[in-house]
Parts: sequence; C-alpha cells; structure tokens
Amino acid sequence: MESDIARILIPRDRILERVRELARGIDETYRDSSEGLIIVPILAGSIIFLADLIRCLPFKMRIGLMTLSRYRGAATTGGETRLVQDLSLDIKGRHVLIVDDILDSGGTLTAVRDHLMAREPASLRICVLLRKTARAPKDLVPDFVGFDIDDVFVVGYGLDYDGHYRNWPDIGVLRPELYA
Ligand code: IMP
Ligand code: MG
Repeated sequence: MESDIARILIPRDRILERVRELARGIDETYRDSSEGLIIVPILAGSIIFLADLIRCLPFKMRIGLMTLSRYRGAATTGGETRLVQDLSLDIKGRHVLIVDDILDSGGTLTAVRDHLMAREPASLRICVLLRKTARAPKDLVPDFVGFDIDDVFVVGYGLDYDGHYRNWPDIGVLRPELYA
C-alpha cells in the first residue's frame, strides 16, 4: 500500500489537530441547539473522519444513515446520483449536520442536501474534511471545512481509489500512473 502513495499531503497528527478544531467550531455552533442533533455521514468515505470527529463532540447526538450511489468510474466524478437506502431517522424539525470526506464538484453533496431539505429539518449544515477549491461550486458553501486542497487525487483517512486505501492513516497523493 505504502509504495502506491507518491507523497503525504496531510499527516495524521495534522488531521487530528484540525478535526479537534472543527469539533470546537461545531460545538460553538450548536451549543444552544445541540438537543436532537442528527449527523448524516456520506458513506463510505466519511467513516474515519466521522469516527474521530464525533468523539470530540461533548454533547448528545445521533447518526442518521443513508446510502447514495453514483454511477461513475473509479477515480472520476460526475454522473447520476441514486438513492440506495433512505435515511434511518426522521429529521423533520431537527438540526442536521451532513459530514463528508471531500467536496469536489459538489454533485454528491448537492443531491444529499436537496434530498434532506425536502424532509424539513430545523436547520441543515455541511461539514467536509477536504475541499478542492478549483472545482467546488459557488452555490454550495460548507459551514465547516477542514482543509482546502489543490485538484489532486488523494487517498487515505477514509478516502479511496476503487475501494482501496481507506485504511491508510494519512492523507496522501496516489501515484498518478495507478489511475491514469
Ligand atoms: P463530488 O460529487 O464531485 O463533489 O465528489 C465527491 C465524492 O467524490 C467524494 O465523496 C469522494 O467519494 C469522491 N472524490 C472526489 N475527489 C476525490 C479524491 O481526490 N480522492 C478520493 N475520492 C474523491
Ligand atoms: Mg465519497
């Protein structure tokens, strides 16, 4: 696995430090309204980030699970979004925070946001660990962003290429010849 990574972009210590800062920001935002907060992770990329983030949150919360799937190649983005499994919790009148690994073109998050907004939550916010500033759409501005990164393909800390590398503990740039 290690030999497939060209370079480490964000080392694990730096990720954890930033995750703690994000959790502080989230705590401040929901300090007076954390009652009933439902966190909706976008699977599977957000699982490692989610696990670290929610353990830094000092208030009660629930996780609402849903599965969307996108038709596309392994390292490309774009394509139709299809709902595979609907949300496991009723979010009507609740504060909802979407958690995702990376905001790239925004197709996934836009679809999830629209889907959840139709369920009439009290509020809907978005937290992403990474944002590719070159491609992120102007009409989708996350409330919490871990790191802005260049338009490179990254893996590790939950992010995959063709299902692999999610267990790599740092965020690294995949050797381009592996997905060219
Ligand atoms: P978007 O819909 O174009 O914003 O793409 C978001 C999704 O594409 C993320 O949730 C990831 O699953 C995937 N993705 C985009 N860029 C990368 C990357 O650099 N590495 C791994 N997955 C990525
Ligand atoms: Mg993903």
